[in-house]
Amino acid sequence: MSSDIDFQHVANLASELNELAKDSQGFSDGFRTTQMREKARQILSATRDPEAQAEEYSIWMGEMAAVRLFHEIYAFQKIPKEGSITYKELAEKVGAETRLIERVGNMLVSVGILSLEGDDQVSHTPRSRVYLDMHPTGLMACAFYDVMNVGSSRWPDYFGKYGLKEAGESFTTSPFSFAYGQPDKNVWAIMSENKRRMEEFSIGMNLSEKFLPCLGMYDFSGIAEYAKNGPDKDRKLFVDVGCAKGHSSIDILTENPEIPAERCVLQDRPDVIEHVKEMDNPVLRPAEKQVIDFFKGQPVKGALVYYIRRCLHDWSDDFSVTILLHLREACAADSRVLICEQLLASPPVPSQTALDLCMMDIGGCERNESMFREVANRAGLEVVGIHRDKQTPVAVIECVRSDSDCR
Ligand SMILES: C[S@@+](CC[C@H](N)C(=O)[O-])C[C@H]1O[C@@H](n2cnc3c(N)ncnc32)[C@H](O)[C@@H]1O
Repeated sequence: MSSDIDFQHVANLASELNELAKDSQGFSDGFRTTQMREKARQILSATRDPEAQAEEYSIWMGEMAAVRLFHEIYAFQKIPKEGSITYKELAEKVGAETRLIERVGNMLVSVGILSLEGDDQVSHTPRSRVYLDMHPTGLMACAFYDVMNVGSSRWPDYFGKYGLKEAGESFTTSPFSFAYGQPDKNVWAIMSENKRRMEEFSIGMNLSEKFLPCLGMYDFSGIAEYAKNGPDKDRKLFVDVGCAKGHSSIDILTENPEIPAERCVLQDRPDVIEHVKEMDNPVLRPAEKQVIDFFKGQPVKGALVYYIRRCLHDWSDDFSVTILLHLREACAADSRVLICEQLLASPPVPSQTALDLCMMDIGGCERNESMFREVANRAGLEVVGIHRDKQTPVAVIECVRSDSDCR
């Protein structure tokens, strides 16, 4: 099989990796390491023996299942931070059979997540330490397992039952809810039933924030300008729809202190808004906090900007159109709807395609530029600007009412 390898292609990839590494010296941002890892993955892929693929997959599956179980039963926590522990002692600490812990532990040793000392003692490595002390990296890996691995492991049965079409048609049924045996509930209702899983999921997902900027793409100073010189002093200026903890609003208001927070509104579901109020962040204190259901309507009419970040990718096109339709109905002629999301790249890259399939497991969807244009158009909005981040696939998609003259 090695004769099928395109050595020139491999050499080109290797020199691209070399260039990336040279350019990255002195920088420590996640984006550069992600780029280097992606290049290294392309080299691995170009030199991969197709005959070994099934074996490689089986190793990945074994590794992920072993990690997930050790995390669930707190086995990583019970391994001393310094020094080692026998499988027998570890099994006693987590209340399990020694043979079970040994077999699962051996999987982790074989891929370098744990280190074997002597015949039957294990100790931590840097790769196992990310599963300690609620480290967000480990929690994110477990969250992906719970959503994607569990959901997609049932794809053949799910698509066999519901037909070969994109998931996301129904408000509840998705590969995730099907796999968890509760097709009448949506992902959030199911996740909320397990307090630990939900809490860990939120911490893990917060990590993705680090890689997804909300600043540096769109110039929000126009809002401050309107606050100063605009004719209507009562008009709401900025509505953060599906705000979660309000972190985007905090960043935007901190960078643009001339935008008066009292003319901003944060909107989300009841428990989320309760949490925002409890957090009582000083930047957001003067802002209005409002419970909404973005499928039912937009109570703030004629705001200057409606900002909706990382919400549409949770939903199929039809549901996203409904959300945007309510924003469009609330818009004045000069209102802007700003959609902040990742744009799918062409040709596709695995980190994005994997995320897209993960979103399909819960009924959502990642989109490229033309998919956003289509969803916006269906909702009576027109895209008037795509403001891309220079380092990540994130963009702000600026829309106005299709019948507006204010381009
Ligand atoms: C992935 S989070 C994005 C949060 C935030 N905008 C960000 O950029 O991180 C999606 C948000 O949509 C909210 N959401 C979900 N369904 C909603 C609904 N029907 N009405 C209003 N908000 C909703 C969730 O509570 C959550 O805060």
